[in-house]
Amino acid sequence: MPPNFTILGIESSCDDTAAAVVRGQPTDSEILSNVVFTQTDAHAAFGGVVPEIAARAHAEKIDIVAEQALDNAKIRFGDIDAIAVTAGPGLIGGVLSGVMCAKGLSAAIGKPLIGVNHLAGHALTPQLTDGIRFPYLMLLVSGGHCQFLLVEGPDRYTRLGGTIDDAPGEAFDKTARILGLPQPGGPSVEDAAKTGNPAAYALPRPLLNRDDCNMSFSGLKTAILRARDEVVKDHGGLPRQSQADLCASFQAAVVDVLANKSRCALRAAREINLNVRTLAVAGGVAANASIRTALEAVCAEAETDFVAPPLALCTDNAAMIAFAGLHRMAAGHTDDLSLSARPRWPLDQKSPTMLGSGKKGAKA
Ligand code: KG4
Ligand code: ZN
Repeated sequence: MPPNFTILGIESSCDDTAAAVVRGQPTDSEILSNVVFTQTDAHAAFGGVVPEIAARAHAEKIDIVAEQALDNAKIRFGDIDAIAVTAGPGLIGGVLSGVMCAKGLSAAIGKPLIGVNHLAGHALTPQLTDGIRFPYLMLLVSGGHCQFLLVEGPDRYTRLGGTIDDAPGEAFDKTARILGLPQPGGPSVEDAAKTGNPAAYALPRPLLNRDDCNMSFSGLKTAILRARDEVVKDHGGLPRQSQADLCASFQAAVVDVLANKSRCALRAAREINLNVRTLAVAGGVAANASIRTALEAVCAEAETDFVAPPLALCTDNAAMIAFAGLHRMAAGHTDDLSLSARPRWPLDQKSPTMLGSGKKGAKA
């Protein structure tokens, strides 16, 4: 029987300071604790994540959160087999806070350090939560990421496509801002859309006619801005019904793009590996009920299982980092104190990111 490992995970690549303990083997493990300290309030006044504020807040909280994770797991530092830490991609100040804390702990307790790619953490989560086996297709949709990954092993990722500009969560957040709704935009736009007409505004569905897995969401936000200005010109303000109609029309456009491109990605994944029978999602946007329903329908049509981990493990957390670390530990891959923090780190080295660095940090 393969050995059980107890891994402390640390995550600080964006605006959540997180630590968690995961124990077990790659095929059978459990989360002993999962602590997330979110910085949402610290950034609220700025309409987005401010890297300097984020870095400082991570540095202030990271050791406290790590201790809390051990307390909640009812273990001590001596019980840990390794410390896994997000070493990128992300906002460099935050990633550095985590890496420095992990190095300090590693040196102090004499246990190995494991640098984890944040995206690998997301991509491996459905194994931790639902026990699914390789290969599978992963759609990562959050405020900072949007990509399709064929996952064939803990170290084998093929990026099949992704957004060429904004991530969908970013588009939800910007739409909320344009329409005067609170942040984070995803839940408030989804809520307003419930009483709106999704056919009220004909918004663009960019790149839909192209037979690849790439997407674009920045034009949608410009279209919303124009449509809002027209309404304001005609009515002298933004009536509640128009706000709801704009939200519903925006959401319908995002749903159409994600559903159609998921169909494309399933085909592309199966061209590479015929055994792909599951589509898994991760990222905050995966909380959206209309998006989930549309993806479920795409999967049913393609005789594919659909897996959506619980929301707390879809969004940024350290349990996924500990679990990715567990995979590396089991494969005998550990790092030493020369581990560096990387603002960019594409999972698929053959297909580097096409995106720049946005409000939520380096996108991959
Ligand atoms: O994964 P996450 O917590 O953080 C990162 O971006 O890494 O995702 C946050 C994003 C935000 O942009 C938020 O507006 C979006 O996920 N989001 C949603 C919903 N809930 C959160 N988007 C659409 N519908 C939702 N219900
Ligand atoms: Zn993330």
